[in-house]
Amino acid sequence: MPDSPEIKRYTVTSALPYANGPKHIGHLAGAYIPADVYVRFLRLLKKNVVFVCGSDEHGTAIPNQALKENTTAQQIIDKYHVLIRDCLYKLGISFDVYHRTSETLHHQTSQEFFLALFNKGLLTEETSEQYFDQEANAFLADRYIVGTCPRCGNPNAYGDQCERCGSTLSPRELINPRSTLSGSPPVLRPTKHWFLPLQDYEPWLREWILKSHADDWKTNVYGQCKSWIDAGLLPRAMTRDLDWGIKVPLPDAEGKVLYVWFDAPIGYISATRALFQELSDGKKKYSSPQSDFGKVKVDDWKKYWQDKDTKLVHFVGKDNIVFHCIIFPVMLHASQQFIVPDNVPANEFMNLEGDKMSTSRGWSIEMHEYIEDFPDKPDVLRYALLTNLPETKDSEFTWKDFQSKNNNELVAIFGNFVNRALVLTQNYFENKVPPRGVLTPVDEKVVKEVKEFPGRIAASIEAYRFREATALMIDLARTGNKYLAETEPWKLAKTDMIRVGTILNLALQISANLAVLTEPFLPFTSRKLKSMLALPDLGWNETGSVDLLPAGHALGHASLLFEKIEDSVIESQIKKLNIKKMEVERASQPPKAVKPLKPEVTIDDFSKLDIRIGKVIAAEKMEKSNKLLKLTINSGLDTRIILSGIAQHYTAEEMVGKQVTFIANLAPRKMMGVESQGMILSAEDGDGKLKLLQPLGDVEPGSAVN
Ligand code: MF3
Ligand code: ZN
Repeated sequence: MPDSPEIKRYTVTSALPYANGPKHIGHLAGAYIPADVYVRFLRLLKKNVVFVCGSDEHGTAIPNQALKENTTAQQIIDKYHVLIRDCLYKLGISFDVYHRTSETLHHQTSQEFFLALFNKGLLTEETSEQYFDQEANAFLADRYIVGTCPRCGNPNAYGDQCERCGSTLSPRELINPRSTLSGSPPVLRPTKHWFLPLQDYEPWLREWILKSHADDWKTNVYGQCKSWIDAGLLPRAMTRDLDWGIKVPLPDAEGKVLYVWFDAPIGYISATRALFQELSDGKKKYSSPQSDFGKVKVDDWKKYWQDKDTKLVHFVGKDNIVFHCIIFPVMLHASQQFIVPDNVPANEFMNLEGDKMSTSRGWSIEMHEYIEDFPDKPDVLRYALLTNLPETKDSEFTWKDFQSKNNNELVAIFGNFVNRALVLTQNYFENKVPPRGVLTPVDEKVVKEVKEFPGRIAASIEAYRFREATALMIDLARTGNKYLAETEPWKLAKTDMIRVGTILNLALQISANLAVLTEPFLPFTSRKLKSMLALPDLGWNETGSVDLLPAGHALGHASLLFEKIEDSVIESQIKKLNIKKMEVERASQPPKAVKPLKPEVTIDDFSKLDIRIGKVIAAEKMEKSNKLLKLTINSGLDTRIILSGIAQHYTAEEMVGKQVTFIANLAPRKMMGVESQGMILSAEDGDGKLKLLQPLGDVEPGSAVN
């Protein structure tokens, strides 16, 4: 259903990515690409829409990463803010503004918001016991405490969550807690915090979500909200003991900052404020150069957050649902100044080649990695993700599917159709749109179909069904392709140029419709196609017509819209993925324990040992022992027998002919009835694996080692 005419403007948000590392294509599929399609569609409808995003730069994720990279939190956010922002823009995500929560304007906005709630008496103050690390002299955020999970026994569960069994935990539930800062067990200390009493808003939440959004919110979103509300809402602390974040603006709050999930969503508001400030003073820093709202005033941001005739939509991934459906809306509602979201069309997760996508485990395709390898193919990724969005359940990205979407759909259907229409027009009509003659039933049918597409695609987008919308978009190209295959204008060129003109005219009109209707999905391709057709910018409501290009209109220069992706390219991507995972696994293995140092010896002690090189001339396994090999050695001095405990590491056969290093003057020792006249030297690693010591290069038996 199209929106009611009462809606005057739209505020669309994408989850603010944590600036603690690169973001992968699963994030793109969750919160960015669907939002971008929605926004571009609204703009084509000439709606007034602001699309805001930015970096989430607070919370423990940032200092955590700084520890890992051995740098400062400030350097972490500066690095990843730029990296993530640039990737999103390169993939065509058309934000009006990409702000940051470390900006002063955001600190102010968040503190004002907090004080507004505080001054109305809407926050409760509570002193409770929290874990404190005496060595590090700091209260411990949930993530800084690990211990044994009370549900599944995982010894490394976090204070807020067990990653093995998925349970939500609180630090006090952990068995044998320890601090990740110092490793020592934390102690409980009293500390004061300010809470949002979520339970007081239960009746409002039931009314607002469970009653009035029963039909228009997605079932996965509605279901999560319902189970949260039914489980009983609890007061939630809006402040933390931490030194990274926004200071709590109260006199008795030394060392305390706002909870990251309090300030981050306010980041949407700050970003909108920054946009209108920049638009009104003309100094663009965080806003996009393309962003144009005509003449504006600094305070115009308020309309987008406070006026009832604004529709607010949050695009997020499923791990963000409660924050956007319960906690932030309660904050907005409680303030009595702000509107609440009309919808939160959250997506589920996208897996990768049969496993969960995860940057930390190295099983991911990061946005910057894709852009480096496929710099001229942002739309191919958009298309592969759009046709595979985890809208109702988790989905999966595979490189094979990426290749087949490109080769079998973008190249073979869309690209092929447009290319035929344009090349034939070049060949037969000097690159000018030919006039239409009388329409046959095949023509009438295609004209009718073209007319229906814009409405069908729009209905899918308005219902947040972007997969379906994308499928319809490519269906329009398929319709055109089929039309040409049925009418075969290339066969008629000798006999009936009027008929050929009619067919190509219609094929070009379909191409023109595609140029406009693909814009939300494939913006780069759309722009290219518009220039090939020399088509002016048209709105969504002008499509569905077969009169977009007048007869005689001169077309632009034709080139291929898409190119085939070869098997070798796909194979090397799969290989790359596996190598990255192996490297991450290797790097994250703890270093092997090294044996402690023995007491000091003098050179005289050492020189008592007579170490020599010998050569194995015969070898056999000792019966009844699975450890010992019986080696016959040419020692240079004599031929002697040495028993060596290397049978699990070397076979008798492979020992023959090998050089060995041995102690020649060790007192003989009898083992299993055989006298051993020396000891073979080897190195042993932490896993108990043995490797023989040999000189680098051949030396004479009997050579001394010193
Ligand atoms: N940084 C959060 C995440 O990546 C999302 C924040 S969304 C906002 O999961 F509400 F804070 F903006
Ligand atoms: Zn567990």
